[in-house]
Amino acid sequence: MGRSIAEKLSLPLLGAEFRVFPDGESKFTVSDKVSGKNVLLVQSTYHPADHHLFQLLLASHHLSEEGAKITAVVPYLAYARQDKQFLPGEGVTLGFVAHLMRSAGVRRLVTVDIHSAEGLALFSFPTYSVSAIPSLVEYVRENVSPKDPVVISPDFGGSKRTEAFAALYGAPFLQLAKTRDRVSGEVTVADSKLEVKGKDVVIVDDIISTGGTARAAAEKVMSQGARRAIAVCVHGLFVGSALDILEKASVKTVVCTNTVPGRFSQVDVSDAVASHLRTIED
Ligand code: R5P
Repeated sequence: MGRSIAEKLSLPLLGAEFRVFPDGESKFTVSDKVSGKNVLLVQSTYHPADHHLFQLLLASHHLSEEGAKITAVVPYLAYARQDKQFLPGEGVTLGFVAHLMRSAGVRRLVTVDIHSAEGLALFSFPTYSVSAIPSLVEYVRENVSPKDPVVISPDFGGSKRTEAFAALYGAPFLQLAKTRDRVSGEVTVADSKLEVKGKDVVIVDDIISTGGTARAAAEKVMSQGARRAIAVCVHGLFVGSALDILEKASVKTVVCTNTVPGRFSQVDVSDAVASHLRTIED
């Protein structure tokens, strides 16, 4: 995505290279002079998250030591779901990531649809979360064209984002009440009567990881007579057998953005990110 953002902003690409040694260690080398320059460091931190995060920190540290001013552009921000303590004794890992970024010289963070806005408050430097929802709406309208659509949020946490999707699409919005067992990770959706009979249901979430949430939502609407379940998310991680799980739950269509590369990453968010970067002044 770095190349695409650079093209859109008519910026030169920095001569830099990551090398990964046979033992897994990374090395970062920059061949251009960066002293006094504003550098947009574009690195998504999808699986393997720790590796990609470390590379981001390594590059930021080195470039800032060389005198660059770093804006980290992190389309998918790993650890964003660990933004508070859910169970006693748990660490707030996103707070630690914020601390590491600052120590590595990051001055500003631009990400895409962070899991929750509260997460941004853990950073002690300016942060911004770009919304991919308008791009997803446009893609679904033009390429999926659901019949008599209803837009559903699987849980309360993501309801604002999903409601925005429904409003932009001009479709009714419904809310499910999902709960996750914090120890086993098992997802359940509370029973409720939903007006979905004969309709195409668009399930909108920020992340699909194991597929458990989308599966529970899809099973619920299909059992109440929905015509089709469509899963839309910003960050498609699809870990393990997530895609099989979705298929078994009768999810016919999956749409996500290119914050995480993959088979379903059809929606390009580089325009939305570049538009935001244009508004940033030094
Ligand atoms: C959780 O609150 C998030 O918004 C997603 O619903 C969740 O991360 C999806 O994960 P999974 O696909 O593993 O259920």
